[in-house]
Amino acid sequence: MPKPTLTTESGAPVADNQNAATAGVGGPLLLQDQHLLEKLARFNRERIPERVVHARGSGAHGYFEVTDDVTGFTRADFLGSVGRRTPVFARFSTVADSLGGADAVRDPRGFALKFYTDEGNYDLVGNNTPVFFIKDPIKFPDFIHSQKRDPFTGVQEPDNVWDFWAHAPEATHQVTWLMGDRGIPASYRHMNGYGSHTYQWTNAAGEAFFVKYHFKTNQGVRCLSGEQAAEQVGKDANSHQRDLVQAIERGVNPSWTLYVQIMPAAEAPSYRFNPFDLTKVWPHADYPLQRVGRLVLDRNPDNVFAEVEQAAFSPNNFVPGIGPSPDKMLQGRLFAYADAHRYRLGVNHTQLPVNAPKFEAANYGRDGLMATRNGSRHAKNYEPNSYDGPVQTDQPLSAPLAVSGHTGTHEAPAHTKDDDFFQAGELYRLMSEEEKKRLVATIAGGLSQVGRDDVVEKNLAHFHAADPDYGKRVEAAVRELRES
Ligand code: HEM
Repeated sequence: MPKPTLTTESGAPVADNQNAATAGVGGPLLLQDQHLLEKLARFNRERIPERVVHARGSGAHGYFEVTDDVTGFTRADFLGSVGRRTPVFARFSTVADSLGGADAVRDPRGFALKFYTDEGNYDLVGNNTPVFFIKDPIKFPDFIHSQKRDPFTGVQEPDNVWDFWAHAPEATHQVTWLMGDRGIPASYRHMNGYGSHTYQWTNAAGEAFFVKYHFKTNQGVRCLSGEQAAEQVGKDANSHQRDLVQAIERGVNPSWTLYVQIMPAAEAPSYRFNPFDLTKVWPHADYPLQRVGRLVLDRNPDNVFAEVEQAAFSPNNFVPGIGPSPDKMLQGRLFAYADAHRYRLGVNHTQLPVNAPKFEAANYGRDGLMATRNGSRHAKNYEPNSYDGPVQTDQPLSAPLAVSGHTGTHEAPAHTKDDDFFQAGELYRLMSEEEKKRLVATIAGGLSQVGRDDVVEKNLAHFHAADPDYGKRVEAAVRELRES
């Protein structure tokens, strides 16, 4: 078979791809060498802004299959019958480092899913942890600044990391989680995923429920110790990416079983803690796990840039039967993601193949940089119109949320047991003696590097408040390391 002809971007054949055109042999370059100019200019524009968080990640295609009937709780069409399969794109990520960062690090992992349903794309943008460090979105930029590279030293600074946590007692639960045995997953295949926030489901009768999503890995949870991770990073900084690509290429398709916890909406106001607080889990004894289906990843992207780097997940992409809860963090995220996509990928990012719904979106949005979908010849670009353009359904996607009170910068509504520490203590007490030892050593290893005594003391106070034994042990270990 003859090879195809090499062309310029405009399609003209290229005569020489090895020698730039010059004025005479050995002379200066000619401005008329379109192929050279285009090749250099295009190369300069290959990078786009990386994600401000979760920059380093890996993606794969697959499907979600319903195994259990949940129609009593949601009218979401893609969950509407057992056996129903919906195509999915997943992206897993680390959070704090930039695009070139190492995979096997102590950091939460992103667990982002895009379900290409018949009613539009549903994005569930979660993590491998059921809780988070903060519960108000106004703190997010400060939190991330403290965890990423310091603007002066250019490296992640324990002083900044722990200084933020010193001022965020609500982080104690997630810090305990992150510093514990599950803090460094062995690979993306060997970790669970959580929606983390509380979401709302609405059934066909209009009844509302609050739900939490749990994706349990069918590969089993496997993690690395700090030492194993350091060795792994030295051997192969891209270990998670390599593992995922190679497993799928070998036909060893990773899968997860989805369970949900379901709370009838009427129980939320009187629950013993705020059920919309992202720093807390719902005990399974109160709301047991109910199986929904399984997620299978079975196809690698053909091109990492096109499909993984350009993937745009937004927690605000809901479908009928699924909606937001009043969780303030979630509400903040409903704005932040599509805004980031407009900056990172442009206003028409939803037209890129990985982000487009599986049918053509129909609305009156037009034009903008890189528009490829502008309506057919006679389609009107305003609404209402007297022609045959798309019209609204008059069917809200989810049930309305009841609100009361005055506007203002309020703290969360008070429930009987809303302190920031009791679930961190419960998590600590669940651990075996060996796990507790490793947890304490990991925390002390980080906290002992902090220069300021007041920052150390404030953090110690949080561990004491979670559990006296936890506090005592961390304090002793930190003092020992600081004095040595
Ligand atoms: C990525 C904002 C909390 C999970 C991002 C991005 C932004 C952002 C701007 C980059 C998006 C892009 O460029 O494509 C925020 C804000 C938060 C918040 C403002 C709090 C108010 C959370 C929480 C979770 C989470 C609580 C998990 C439960 C993720 C994931 C990604 C991400 C998984 C990567 C998505 C992907 O793979 O493309 N976040 N985030 N974030 N965030 Fe958040």
